[in-house]
Amino acid sequence: MNIIFLGAPGAGKGTHAARLKVEKGYPQISTGDMLRRNIAEGTPLGLAAKQYIDEGELVPDEVVIGMVKQRLAEADAQNGFVLDGFPRTVTQAQALDGIARIDVVLNLEVTEDTVLKRLSGRRVCTSCGSVFHTSRLEDETVCPLCGGKLMQRADDKPETILHRLEVYHEQTEPLIEYYDQAGLLINVQVDGDADDNYRDILKVLGI
Ligand code: AP5
Repeated sequence: MNIIFLGAPGAGKGTHAARLKVEKGYPQISTGDMLRRNIAEGTPLGLAAKQYIDEGELVPDEVVIGMVKQRLAEADAQNGFVLDGFPRTVTQAQALDGIARIDVVLNLEVTEDTVLKRLSGRRVCTSCGSVFHTSRLEDETVCPLCGGKLMQRADDKPETILHRLEVYHEQTEPLIEYYDQAGLLINVQVDGDADDNYRDILKVLGI
């Protein structure tokens, strides 16, 4: 099954896509993670993307579309995948229509209040990439899975979070209508507990 996770920053796209990867074997194709990896490795793509990400702006469509096209051609993406953070504009969705068949689009619905709480408490492991929330950590600086260092993402500063939400409303929200028209959209309420949300996601996916 080819799945898109749509939703505001902090909706839980990355959290649930990572769990689906571990438990059900669906490759998690996260454009945010791919871009951040490029930044960490200092590639030309990463250098071009860094300022956009740090300011909470979207990276230009042509950069992201090329990156996803390449990734979807890889062997592990031929038997299903979860797209996490792509598409994010109507131009990206139209390009994706020419690249891959999509079976279902889950729109993870969350309030802005929840987004602000989740993103201000998010910590990411610099070694294994796992994502946590401070409310579930005993030590906010050490990864409980691998012992690596936990950091706050540069774009999780309060003012950047608010700007990312504006960008989401302007450029990504129109995709709800786009995929509803295509008959692919399912809404899932994800304000509550992560385990409950994940169970709801499995239920609507029928897996
Ligand atoms: P990206 O990395 O995709 O960020 P995002 O869409 O803003 O989404 P987030 O990663 O912030 O949130 P999430 O929904 O994955 O939430 P998470 O699971 O981490 O993109 C970053 C930047 O890259 C963009 O701003 C842009 O510049 C660029 N970019 C990426 N894709 C692009 C594209 N297609 N086009 C152009 N530019 C692109 O959860 C958040 C926190 O909540 C965690 O700490 C988690 O532990 C916690 N939490 C608490 N309760 C729950 C719960 N019930 N469910 C899930 N998580 C919970």
